[in-house]
Amino acid sequence: MTQTTVTALTDEEIQAGLSFDQLKELVGLVEYDASSDPFPVTGMDAVCFVVGNATQTATFYQLALGMELEAYRGPENGSREAKSYVLRSGSARFVFSGGVSPDSPLLDHHRRHGDGVVDLALEVPDVDRCIEHARSVGATILEEPHDVTDEHGTVRTAAIATYGETRHTLVDRSHYDGPYLPGYVAAVGTVARGEGDAANARGRRTFQAVDHCVGNVELGRMDEWVEFYNKVMGFVNMAEFIGDDIATDYSALMSKVVASGNHRVKFPLNEPAVAARKSQIDEYLEFYAGAGCQHIALATNDILRTVDTLSANGIEFLETPDSYYDDPELRARIGEVRVPIEELKARGILVDRDEDGYLLQIFCKPLGDRPTVFYEFIERHGSLGFGKGNFKALFEAIEREQELRGNL
Ligand SMILES: [Fe+2]
Repeated sequence: MTQTTVTALTDEEIQAGLSFDQLKELVGLVEYDASSDPFPVTGMDAVCFVVGNATQTATFYQLALGMELEAYRGPENGSREAKSYVLRSGSARFVFSGGVSPDSPLLDHHRRHGDGVVDLALEVPDVDRCIEHARSVGATILEEPHDVTDEHGTVRTAAIATYGETRHTLVDRSHYDGPYLPGYVAAVGTVARGEGDAANARGRRTFQAVDHCVGNVELGRMDEWVEFYNKVMGFVNMAEFIGDDIATDYSALMSKVVASGNHRVKFPLNEPAVAARKSQIDEYLEFYAGAGCQHIALATNDILRTVDTLSANGIEFLETPDSYYDDPELRARIGEVRVPIEELKARGILVDRDEDGYLLQIFCKPLGDRPTVFYEFIERHGSLGFGKGNFKALFEAIEREQELRGNL
């Protein structure tokens, strides 16, 4: 008999002032028993990016997305080859790295892929147990389990390969209380915040947590990666979208979602489907030069305020046609939501409903130069879905952008 236990909150969630009930609402956290899980995962540790200019990117994310700078590593403290900035919003942690010395491998990575996600790092309670299991089922171990120590304690870590040049670093930070990881120093934000700055006030962040991270993989390889997450990481299958669900006249894709036992980590995996013209997934694969992370969905408890703040800060969102909101079928399907439809229409926020509840979501345009990684902001009200009902409206909006870029 399986015993259900309460999923403990992470230190990051406690520090961010989030409760289990809030996280259940925000990211669909569920209770589960980790004892029989061959690869227990506590949650996301960090989303790590390689960018062309980490110095400016770190400032941009503070200014535009209201994130807080909390740690740094660079030439000033012993890392001559690269600079890394660690930023936080709620329990979400982003790390931006860029090459400093001309022979830095990060610069080669950036040359191939542009700005992008290199590591979806996971917090785990037992690195050795995870790696032992991963190895036994044939995963590629990029870094064997080892300790990294400084005056704040010890972090045990290892890394396994996933799609493209992306990796999952596994981190057990239960014996560490320093800023981020050994080698980093605490950093104070470089952006002055006024008292009335909404993004800076506790509980008024523009986002609270990472909800899901989507991977785009090559044609015909989605099931292989679903199986990887099932077999190597013990992830369970969630929703499944195939064929007509997400086909427009021109482009189509297939998508399946895997999740960790507690659902804190959710990875939808997309592959292009054969269609009349180039799909958005094909465009991504071409410009990222391979499989990679397509979007990071960030949970917010007030999407209207998030969109207003980010728009005022210069973030551009995909436009949703008025017809989306005026469609009687949509109105009937979504029923009552917490705000008038007009408020959603004014901001281009999408709505989807399933048997468990509803969600509000919106997608921004890629923040880098290449049409690759972008963000979604999501406000869940019971729904554990991913906006399946919005895929068609959304893809038509993406295709309009693709057409402007000459890539459709
Ligand atoms: Fe998403």
